[in-house]
Amino acid sequence: MFDLIAEHPLLASVLAFVAFCVIVSLYDITQKHHTILHNFPVVGHLRYFLEMVGPEMRQYWVANDKEEMPFNRDERSWIYASAKGENNTFGFGSTEQMYGIGYPIVKQAAFPFPDYRAYHINGDPSAVPCLKVMGAAHNRRRPYRPRSIINISAMSFGSLGERAISALNLGAAQADCYHNSGEGGVSPYHCLGGDIVWQLGTGYFGARGPDGKFSVEEMVRKTTENDKIRAIEIKLSQGAKPGKGGILPGAKVTAQIAKIRGIPIGKDCISPNAHSEFDTVDELIDFVELIAGKTGLPVGIKSAIGKIDFWHELAAKMKSRGEGPDFISVDGGEGGTGAAPLTFADHVSLPFKIGFERVYRIFQQAEVSKQVVWIGSGKLGFPDRTLVAFAMGVDMIQVAREAMISIGCIQALKCHTGHCPTGVATQNKWLQAGVNVEAKAKRFATYVKAYRKEVLSLAHAAGYEHPAQVNGDDIEFSSGVNRFLTLTETLGYRCDEIEFRGMASLADDSPDASATQTT
Ligand SMILES: Cc1cc2nc3c(=O)[nH]c(=O)nc-3n(C[C@H](O)[C@H](O)[C@H](O)COP(=O)(O)O)c2cc1C
Repeated sequence: MFDLIAEHPLLASVLAFVAFCVIVSLYDITQKHHTILHNFPVVGHLRYFLEMVGPEMRQYWVANDKEEMPFNRDERSWIYASAKGENNTFGFGSTEQMYGIGYPIVKQAAFPFPDYRAYHINGDPSAVPCLKVMGAAHNRRRPYRPRSIINISAMSFGSLGERAISALNLGAAQADCYHNSGEGGVSPYHCLGGDIVWQLGTGYFGARGPDGKFSVEEMVRKTTENDKIRAIEIKLSQGAKPGKGGILPGAKVTAQIAKIRGIPIGKDCISPNAHSEFDTVDELIDFVELIAGKTGLPVGIKSAIGKIDFWHELAAKMKSRGEGPDFISVDGGEGGTGAAPLTFADHVSLPFKIGFERVYRIFQQAEVSKQVVWIGSGKLGFPDRTLVAFAMGVDMIQVAREAMISIGCIQALKCHTGHCPTGVATQNKWLQAGVNVEAKAKRFATYVKAYRKEVLSLAHAAGYEHPAQVNGDDIEFSSGVNRFLTLTETLGYRCDEIEFRGMASLADDSPDASATQTT
């Protein structure tokens, strides 16, 4: 046998290959799961292989620059270049269809706000704090003015790996923005220096008593111990899976995850689809006030927008009671997720612009919109979309997937499998080993700074010092053949004017609660 291989290596290889094919054919013909393999033994495997590598092949070879979803190549390239501090400009002119319905145009002023008059907070030309102070309207004891209009949206340790979370938190500290913990609770990887917004989902992870129920005492203990926790966000829903709970299988509930979440090791960890602490608007407001009263922190809600009666009632009750959420994060139906049923991701909850417009208008009519800090998310992590969102009434943007892209995500669409090839959305140690925390933190911070700077330039071009001064008259949308309408005309409202006394007045780190937010 060995003599045959040594004397006729080519013949031996051919025989080995034929033998291999015969064995695979026998397996294919006798297996009962795949018709294609049964009907086309051996070659049928090609179909599965091509299907597996299809997304990558299309991304690199076939798709054009504007084609891929959810973020096309141009969008990803802009994030990559910004994150690396490379030239993120494009040459030759626009490649967009400017006459296409819904296409937004920012109207520049004849006399832009001069860059030479721009005040650089702490010498940082990209610094843009939020105009409003979270919790000021309801006199919370520990109000918070976010120092960045761009922040990291909720993503739990669990859906992202420890290195990705660490890189984002370190990067948040460098870019002076906050980092939302996601509903999995505040992990040690969220505590590397960046401000934290602690998200509380239906599982109340990190704030559970021994009986597994929500414990406000536990929450007070944690928020007192960790002064980086600056606000609490109660999650009602997220755009990609509103009204849907989740389960982390017991096998994945390691000692570390159990400790962070306050749950037993090795047992299935259920996030129900509804809260157990409230199920009416009054109870929701009571819950907000309980947490705000005990912790002193601003408390807000996050929600995707579906049925509208809830928002009418919430605005009316906030008006009559003078209480309620300090901030509202509106997530668009186009938002991302670690894992969700396709139908929920595709068909449940309104896309951002439609949902936000409906809710904001209700709050404006009820005269409570100024009490609320408005946060938007749902593919908004680009300067033009951010400016449109601001013109609609948004005070801040939260980015999730754009932040992932800035630290190396290639949109492989494998978050739900645990096999993220870039080590971002996985717990796999081998895959994570390639994520250099310090380098990625710098990338994220560089992206946020470049992004804020460009939003600022757009605001300057429109004649303003701060992006929150931009309003619906400054934006036009293509609305038909040779027809453009202002955003104000399209929406039927003009966003609130927020008192602004110049960028220099926002420089003080300690929030001056009475400075800018009127009720
Ligand atoms: C991997 C991943 C995990 C997420 N986890 C949460 C979560 O724990 N809680 C939540 O409210 N939203 C979660 N989201 C939704 C985001 O916070 C955000 O609302 C949504 O992706 C829209 O922002 P984007 O378009 O910038 O990604 C997650 C999104 C991703 C991609």
